[in-house]
Amino acid sequence: GSYQSHTFRAGGSAYPFGADALEEAARLKLPAESFDYIAGAAGRELTARANIAAFTRYGLIYRVLRHNSPTDPAVTLLGTPLALPVLLAPAGAADLAHPGAEAEAARGAADVGTSLVLSAVTSTPLEDVAAAAPHGHLWFQLAWPGDEQLARSLVHRAEKAGYAAVVLMGDCYAAGWRPRELDHGFFPYRHGHGLGNYSSDPRFWELADHSPSGPGLPDDATRAVAAATWNRVFTRPSLAPEDLATLKSWTHLPVLVKGVCDPGEARCLVDAGADGIAVSNHGGRQLDSGVAALDCLPAVAAAVSGRVPLLFDSGIRTGTDVLIALALGADAVMIGRPWLYGLALGGADGVAHVLRCLKDEFTSALTLTGHHTCATLSPSDLTPVRAP
Ligand code: FNR
Repeated sequence: GSYQSHTFRAGGSAYPFGADALEEAARLKLPAESFDYIAGAAGRELTARANIAAFTRYGLIYRVLRHNSPTDPAVTLLGTPLALPVLLAPAGAADLAHPGAEAEAARGAADVGTSLVLSAVTSTPLEDVAAAAPHGHLWFQLAWPGDEQLARSLVHRAEKAGYAAVVLMGDCYAAGWRPRELDHGFFPYRHGHGLGNYSSDPRFWELADHSPSGPGLPDDATRAVAAATWNRVFTRPSLAPEDLATLKSWTHLPVLVKGVCDPGEARCLVDAGADGIAVSNHGGRQLDSGVAALDCLPAVAAAVSGRVPLLFDSGIRTGTDVLIALALGADAVMIGRPWLYGLALGGADGVAHVLRCLKDEFTSALTLTGHHTCATLSPSDLTPVRAP
């Protein structure tokens, strides 16, 4: 309440600095259904909580008397220069957080020298997002639709608009069971949206096909919309590793696969031509009672063994979280909910604030663990600790 707002004013910042305070400020600002769409996860949200808790089982080893030059947190990932090893993860329907949506997010990322991975379920056309941040580098997340022509045209549009990589969403070929969304009535048949706006409305794309024969769609027209939505926003369930060759034949851009947790799958995808792997469990939004994404990282890193760059997301909240993920083998990480909270609080400026906090905290942690760059991080920077 008043103590907090006084503190922010006295500190000269319009935004909270801590991850939990940021979430709370966004909760107070957003309509409940928008906040719950962003903050919520699958089932009892055990996976989402496990993602966060996993970081508390590692301790960073503090080092002394070895710092005689400045620390540089920058990395280059598949040709994309990043001022810090943190990108904005793809998140659909960002207009629920702020009307400026993905364009503001792209601008906030570019202002800090990093990149937005634009969701296929963008509420702003991909060309307009690129035009909003000409000083930045963008990546595009592809949800490979059932219609091959559509898939190809999305990839061509992204390449033409200057996107620098394609991130194939591997983990969203079926809808997750998300009680908070269900509680808010995110059902297409309850709200009767028209054909025009489904792409920006999670009520359509998240749950439209939850049960094609299940909760029941009122008529054929709605069923057709749901089918089209499925087509556009879910990755085709029949997708197989061999399809990567087809995707790569359509574009010169590097192709990454997002949502990998199994080391055997990671190896197989790299063999099939993946230029990068993103270890992620979708922030716990797909499968509950799932393993924490961080607990999958060491084995996937070992399986990939440096053949391609490794991204990580699901649970990153602080600069020290970034350091732990890099020490366990990631080359960079992505954040999901935190940037949506920053966007909700202040558009591009709020997104930039969140990234600057991560950059400053990460740079400090890199220095205090005895490093000058990200390249020297390794598991020897960590020790297992008992969770509090
Ligand atoms: C997502 N995520 C996601 N992923 C993706 O590949 N395509 C998408 O359209 C979306 N949409 C989406 C919406 C919202 C509101 C959230 C919060 C997340 C998952 C996202 O890219 C990322 O994997 C997780 O958000 C990472 O977990 P944290 O950082 O939120 O814990």
